[in-house]
Amino acid sequence: MYKSKIIGTGHYVPDRIVTNSDLEEMMDTTDEWIVERTGVQERRWFEAGKDTVSNMGTRAAQRALENAGIEASELDFIVFATLSPEYYFPGCGVLVQDQLDLDTIGALDVRNQCSGFIYGLSVADQFIKTGMYKTILIIGSEIQSNIMDKSSNGRAIAVIFGDGAGAVVLQATEEEKGILSTHMHSQGKYASELTVKEPSTRHKEQILKRLIDGAKADIYPYMNGKFIFKHAVERFSEVINEALDQNGLKPSDLDMLIPHQANLRISQYIQRELGLADDKIWNNIQKYGNTTGASIPIALDEAQRAGKINDDDLVCLASFGSGLTWASALIRW
Ligand code: UT7
Repeated sequence: MYKSKIIGTGHYVPDRIVTNSDLEEMMDTTDEWIVERTGVQERRWFEAGKDTVSNMGTRAAQRALENAGIEASELDFIVFATLSPEYYFPGCGVLVQDQLDLDTIGALDVRNQCSGFIYGLSVADQFIKTGMYKTILIIGSEIQSNIMDKSSNGRAIAVIFGDGAGAVVLQATEEEKGILSTHMHSQGKYASELTVKEPSTRHKEQILKRLIDGAKADIYPYMNGKFIFKHAVERFSEVINEALDQNGLKPSDLDMLIPHQANLRISQYIQRELGLADDKIWNNIQKYGNTTGASIPIALDEAQRAGKINDDDLVCLASFGSGLTWASALIRW
């Protein structure tokens, strides 16, 4: 059986930088509160007319392809993870297929929020292991700045999230390296603790009625912050240890942990739990905020380009988010 190896990484973030002091102008918040509770100092917001979820994904993909040293025409399949799709349908995967000028290869969209990238990586890994495909592009891309309430009512959420895209190219290898295992979990009974309910097919009639009545639709994200925080710290550690246990390894064997950038305090908690030194975890939430499905491939690309991930390193990706969903991938680089 083949193994799958990440042969290229890339990311794209919009040019528009929004600092905490910019947010102070829009809502009742302070730089001090945001930095202390989340670690975020600035984030990127998309530019209308320039950035879309699919074209940001394509730009990240082009950088990943260049980094891999291959042409788009060598791809066999595309996996696209997002919680902020461009349309109800079709999914963003086919839009990327067109933007990369590809012929008729398959494109799959994954809807697993903060865990979407690892879910997508896991699906691609199975295709490669069985020999069905040789080279697969996996993208995470999000535009969240235009679905948030940027008034004081939405401040607990609007200060955390940002826009961006990341991508990797996964390829079959006969070497004894690459993805060692992936682990995926969910708990739908807590679906309503972190959600955007509308617009949706479920509420369409109510939305139309409320629009006619002039009432407000329930269109902004809802997050039970403390509940999510508590579950995140437990599940992150659990799913990282699950990956290490399955491969007979320990936290001290890790060379790099790339956690989904949910909140700097969550990353620091996991780092302490696992006893990792500062150079064994990559955090960039300070610059980009929480970019949901894009945060892991963006961080992975940064760490890789900074020379922090080298041949034979043991790298762990881990996520937790809406669903609830959580997941990990253990990789021998
Ligand atoms: O990626 C998906 C997974 N998501 C996460 O993992 C996020 C998990 N949760 C969190 O990161 C944290 O719960 C938050 C950062 C969202 C909130 O931090 P917190 O320490 O749980 O704060 P809180 O919601 O309990 O709010 C504390 C206070 C409240 O005021 P009172 O009631 O104590 O007077 C809030 O109204 O802070 C207030 N507050 C703010 N103040 C200034 C909430 N948001 C803000 C804000 N600026 N932006």
